[in-house]
Amino acid sequence: MIPYGKQLLVQEDIDAVVDTLNSDYLTTGPKVKEFEDALASYCEAKYCLAVANGTAALHLASLVLLEQGDKVLTTPNSFLATSNAILYAGAKPIFIDIAENGNIDLDLCEEALKKDPGIKAIYPVAFSGHMIDQSKLQHLRNTYNITILEDFSS
Ligand SMILES: Cc1ncc(COP(=O)(O)O)c(C=O)c1O
Repeated sequence: MIPYGKQLLVQEDIDAVVDTLNSDYLTTGPKVKEFEDALASYCEAKYCLAVANGTAALHLASLVLLEQGDKVLTTPNSFLATSNAILYAGAKPIFIDIAENGNIDLDLCEEALKKDPGIKAIYPVAFSGHMIDQSKLQHLRNTYNITILEDFSS
């Protein structure tokens, strides 16, 4: 069997979980703030908000970024949370075929954007660790004035 992905957990990770389980707070405790601050710093972002899982993150972001009826290009090669988040916001996922590396084909996205100026956003997924071509993505964002939400949940 070819695994979908394999996690890397070291003893330090396990110790951190055990420390938290032994502490007074299981939810919204000091470790959450510590994690948010560390991630914001790593990403050079002003803010970071931790949520329970990838689905919740995609859902919340979609409520902020999308409106009812918006059309969103996304990949069929992903966990269903990616397109479900679009549906939760009342928007419509449009599946674009994938390229050799398993990621959404950005050339096909551009064809779709040329044909339909009503497309609001692209939700790409970095499949199996293959990074999305950022320069091409920025080109699409700037040329077609669309919103990008990258799903790095896998
Ligand atoms: C690409 C992708 N997006 C979203 C999710 C959803 O993440 P979670 O299971 O943490 O809600 C997953 C989970 O496998 C995923 O692989």
